[in-house]
Amino acid sequence: MIKKCLFPVAGYGTRFLPATKSMPKEMLPVVNKPLVQYGVEEAIEAGMTTCAMVTGRGKRAIADHFDINYELEHQIQGTGKEIYLESIRNVLDQGTFTMVRQREMKGLGHAILTGESLIGNEPFGVILSDDLCINPEGDGVLAQMAALYRQFRCSIVAIQEVPEDEVHKYGVIAGEPMKEGLYRVESMVEKPSKEDAPSNLAIIGRYILTPDIFDIIRTTEPGANGEIQLTDALMKQAQMGCVMAYKFKGRRFDCGSVPGFVEATNYVFENIYGGY
Ligand code: UTP
Repeated sequence: MIKKCLFPVAGYGTRFLPATKSMPKEMLPVVNKPLVQYGVEEAIEAGMTTCAMVTGRGKRAIADHFDINYELEHQIQGTGKEIYLESIRNVLDQGTFTMVRQREMKGLGHAILTGESLIGNEPFGVILSDDLCINPEGDGVLAQMAALYRQFRCSIVAIQEVPEDEVHKYGVIAGEPMKEGLYRVESMVEKPSKEDAPSNLAIIGRYILTPDIFDIIRTTEPGANGEIQLTDALMKQAQMGCVMAYKFKGRRFDCGSVPGFVEATNYVFENIYGGY
């Protein structure tokens, strides 16, 4: 029922410099597949076959990745190497890719608002591809959330319990438990100190958003660092109506940080590729 997924991929990826100086961090490969392709495969699995990318300067490699490379296709046609293109060919067969550029990096909220022209007036998924989510036991995280959306028809954020000394890196929620792993959001704070955090339930990079979020973002003032925070807009949406928080099934790796990226690489190599 939800057909579109937004991929904000315009960030600078400073935590991964110098690798990200001229290469988008979303193209960093976990084993042999770029992070953004894992995200797109998760969206397609959830039925969201229109992938809307909010890109920026220096991100052309992402657009090229989701297009045919005729020379390469011609070169390896009929050889044993075709198998290496199989996963991206599948993605290209199933998905449609649209792009818009975020001209100034004014935060995740602003990136989402920039994507409005690609989404229109319908609910949509959001994937931050630097959070790699894997559920070896069943549906991917976005598919789990899409199923919940069919039931609740409101915005949903994915959450994870994190150690107290890491809450300052995340948006953190407080909520009323509805059922196992599901909360109705009562408050939300972006990057709180350990003392101010309302819980240790941290928002990770998967969302389902209803389209009224665009108007809310438009009226959301930039936060302390000058960025328009999605968390602030979601807090308003929770106060005006309803936002749910869902403790997803599966594992999540923070591939925007070097330790998370290394952990993901080892995990995927051992568990998905069987260590070769
Ligand atoms: P992050 O803060 O994790 O990404 O933003 P970053 O800014 O690229 O990374 P660091 O902190 O400098 O290392 C979360 C997501 O939002 C996107 C990023 O691409 C990332 O996927 N984003 C962020 C935008 O698209 N535009 C922005 O203005 C900010």
